[in-house]
Order: sequence, then structure tokens, then C-alpha cells
Amino acid sequence: MPLPNHFQSYVHRINEYLDRIVPPDDTEPQPIYKAIRYSLFAGGKRLRPLISLAAGKALGVADEMMLHGAGAVEMVHTYSLIHDDLPSMDNDDYRRGKLTNHKVFGEAIAILAGNALLTASFEQITNAPFRAEIKARLVQLLTQSAGAAGMLGGQVMDMVNESRKLSLEELERLHSMKTAALIRFAALTGPVIAEADQKTEESFRHYGDCLGLAFQIVDDVLDIESTTEVLGKTAGKDEHKKKVTYPALIGVSESKLLAADLIEQACAAIEKVDRYSDLQNLARHVLTRSN
Ligand code: IPE
Ligand code: IPE
Ligand code: MG
Ligand code: MG
Ligand code: MG
Repeated sequence: MPLPNHFQSYVHRINEYLDRIVPPDDTEPQPIYKAIRYSLFAGGKRLRPLISLAAGKALGVADEMMLHGAGAVEMVHTYSLIHDDLPSMDNDDYRRGKLTNHKVFGEAIAILAGNALLTASFEQITNAPFRAEIKARLVQLLTQSAGAAGMLGGQVMDMVNESRKLSLEELERLHSMKTAALIRFAALTGPVIAEADQKTEESFRHYGDCLGLAFQIVDDVLDIESTTEVLGKTAGKDEHKKKVTYPALIGVSESKLLAADLIEQACAAIEKVDRYSDLQNLARHVLTRSN
């Protein structure tokens, strides 16, 4: 299902915002901003910031407010991709249709660009015009989502379990940490910034968890079924690296069914609050996306 046209203008706003907050290429010390901008503006889908804007909109928060959290989550995500592609990790040459950061700038600068993006993401939140309690809550949630209890911990499990066979339970935990944690954070920026009640926050958390897990399952399926040209990153890498994935464990068809079921759960979780249907549209789009 293609995304409705108005999502294009959201993507435009996110890109404009990121362009405004990241210093220009030639800012000293060179070449750090060049390396950061290279990956940040390489043409990512902006799924996480789109979820954040949609979550805020559903709860009546203006885009200008949401952009701080949306920008922060895209920065953390881009850092995770730069590091994920390093020779010591997935060792990939292409990302977002271009050479990977370390292929262009070398490993040292790629590592530093990732670190700089992570630190800058927290600055985005602390600079935002939110009450101190909300900033503290967002920083705490982002720390948990990005760190060893979240995305980074999932990356550790992904690396140490190459060539091993995990149980379905273990694999769900791995994917939930490496990918769903940041997607859940994006969804939670809505209720946290809107200061919504506990029950509403819980429904956004469930939406993020289900969508995030489905997103990584679809990523694993696309690695098998799609092409390098369409993906903008090398296809077929998971089998080559003996990664533990859903298709490797339960097969492609079962994986697709599971992803579809998770997307329905995600939609059901926020149906009552999603008055513009943006969150449901994003979730359904994830199932049929081509890259
Ligand atoms: C790729 O994420 C990494 C995963 C978590 C599977 P995306 O598919 O959202 O990458 P971009 O941002 O569009 O490049
Ligand atoms: C990466 O998962 C998830 C991250 C936290 C970056 P993958 O290794 O499957 O992502 P791709 O396929 O390289 O985008
Ligand atoms: Mg990886
Ligand atoms: Mg990878
Ligand atoms: Mg992948």
C-alpha cells in the first residue's frame, strides 16, 4: 500500500529540519560534518521521524514541537546504520543507494560520525522547548532504546549469534531490541510530549513494539526477495553472513504471515486515537514496502 501523498510533505519538513540543525559540510573540524551529512541526507525513508510526527498529530501536538524528537530518532538511526555497515560488523559497501560511510571517509571518521550523531540527538532533545520533566523523560527513554538494553544490545546479540540457531523466543527478543526499540521510542514521543495518560502511552508502546518487530521481519524477507538496486544496500547478505533471521528460522511464507499479523495488532492498538489514520497507514505501508 503506497503512503498517501501528504506524507511527502512530512518527509520534506523532516529533511528541512535536519538540514537546519546540522552545520554545513565545511564546518571545522573537517571532515566530520561532511561525513555526517553524507549519510544523513543519503535518502533514507524517514520511517521513524514519520511515526513520531504522526503520533504527535494524533494527540494534537504541532509538528514544530514533534520535530525535535523526530530529528533525534533519525540521528540515532543513521548512527546505527553507519556502525552496522562497518567492516567489523556487517561489512557492507552500499547504504541508501550510495557507498557506505567508511568506504568514502574511512573507518575512523565513520565511527566518529556515528558517535557525533548519537551525542547530537540528545542535544536536540535538551534544546527543545519542552518542560524539563518532558525532556528528562525523553532522554531517559532514548537512552534505554538506543543503549545496551535496546538497539545496541540487539546489535550485540545479532553479532554474537551469527551462524547459530536461536529459538523463536530468542530471535523475537533480538529483533525487538535491535530494531523495535527505536521504533517504539518514535511512537512514544507522541504521548510523552502530549503528556497523555498511562493507558494512551501503553497503546503507543504496543503499536511501536508490533510495528518494530514486523519492520525487521520484512527487512529480513526483502534481503532474500529483493535486489541490491531496489534496496540501495546489498541483497542476500543475511545468508552470506549466516545471520539469524525469521525467514531462516520459520521460512519466508510464515514470516510474511507473522509480519501481517503484527501489523494488524499494531493498527488495533492505536485505532481509537489514530483519528487521521496516519499511524495505521504507516504500519500497513511497512508490509508492502519495496525497500
Ligand atoms: C534499516 O532501516 C535498518 C533496519 C532496522 C532494518 P530502514 O529500512 O528504515 O533504513 P532507511 O532509513 O530507510 O535507510
Ligand atoms: C540493522 O539490522 C539494525 C540496526 C540496528 C542498524 P540489519 O543489519 O538487518 O540492517 P540492514 O539490512 O543492514 O539495513
Ligand atoms: Mg546488522
Ligand atoms: Mg546490516
Ligand atoms: Mg537487514
